[in-house]
Amino acid sequence: MASPDIQICEVGPRDGLQNAKHLMPTEAKKVWISALAAAGVTEIEVGSFVPPKLIPAMADTGELVAHGRSIAGLTVVALAPNLKGFQCALEAGAHKVTFPVSASRAHSQSNVRMSPEDMIAQVRQCVVLRDAQPSNRRPQIEGAVATAFGCTLQGAVSEDDVVRFATLLAEAGCDAVALADTVGYGNPAQVKRVFRRVREAVGRRLEGAHFHNTRGLGLANALAAYEEGVRSFDSSMGGLGGCPFAPGASGNVITEDLVFMFEAMGVSTGIDLEKLFKAREVMVQALPGEPVYGHTAMAGLPKGFRQAA
Ligand code: COA
Ligand code: ZN
Repeated sequence: MASPDIQICEVGPRDGLQNAKHLMPTEAKKVWISALAAAGVTEIEVGSFVPPKLIPAMADTGELVAHGRSIAGLTVVALAPNLKGFQCALEAGAHKVTFPVSASRAHSQSNVRMSPEDMIAQVRQCVVLRDAQPSNRRPQIEGAVATAFGCTLQGAVSEDDVVRFATLLAEAGCDAVALADTVGYGNPAQVKRVFRRVREAVGRRLEGAHFHNTRGLGLANALAAYEEGVRSFDSSMGGLGGCPFAPGASGNVITEDLVFMFEAMGVSTGIDLEKLFKAREVMVQALPGEPVYGHTAMAGLPKGFRQAA
């Protein structure tokens, strides 16, 4: 099968569940992850390696990495906030590890209790540790510039800072750099401008776009990033999500709607929408009472709708 035109990483099990009002049992998470993979999702961020006391919903990430690794063809992603988290990710066998580096100093302190520079120093150490592993145990490392489009604690975030931290992450040896709109402040014009500037600085290492739908602009921002050459997107089923250490943060761009938008445009995602709706039912049943969103799932597919080839 030809590879899809774009890559979607489902971050619901991490970004979604870290902010959900209810805990999803580990077994249910596994069923959900399997259902997502069965729908054709080939990259899933299954959790984060953070102190369980801080985010109890992420306490089972090691077990979920093991489960994800048992699914053929799935790239298993985990978030790590420091060297210790990365060591756990290495031990569990994550294929890819994402580090959140906030361009906002206020959010960096709130989220990881470090300055952005100290966080980048942690990433540098993790790259060295990764490179010392046997070749079959070297995860990809992604540096995600968080609050890249504004911050609820600090307000405006300087674009020069975003470019500078992205450049430092590339220089630290990250395989990929992503830009994240942690609190849903971005707009499409800003998205185009900032992605262009960062691409000029770090070239092909700029990969991922991570948008939140807090002010309803998630899809518009994803389209703007696509038009700027981005081919790798994070999204969350049902629009779950948000950073517990960024006041006012709410859900990610909704996977079902993102897949629908691209497929309707003729841009293939590799994801089967009907099967994706089945995975959504699994999630909804496992999180009773949790608010879930998604226009496409609620309205159904248009009559005679055909997915991109
Ligand atoms: N996983 C598990 N335990 C960890 C850990 C990790 N990644 N990092 C540190 N710890 C443990 C330490 O061993 C120590 O344990 P002890 O009290 O038993 O000795 C304790 O946690 C405190 O360690 P310290 O290094 O002082 O951490 P901290 O309290 O300054 O917190 C972070 C720093 C980075 C661990 C924390 O802020 C964090 O996890 N942030 C991530 C938040 C997040 O996930 N946000 C959403 C995604 S963007
Ligand atoms: Zn997020």
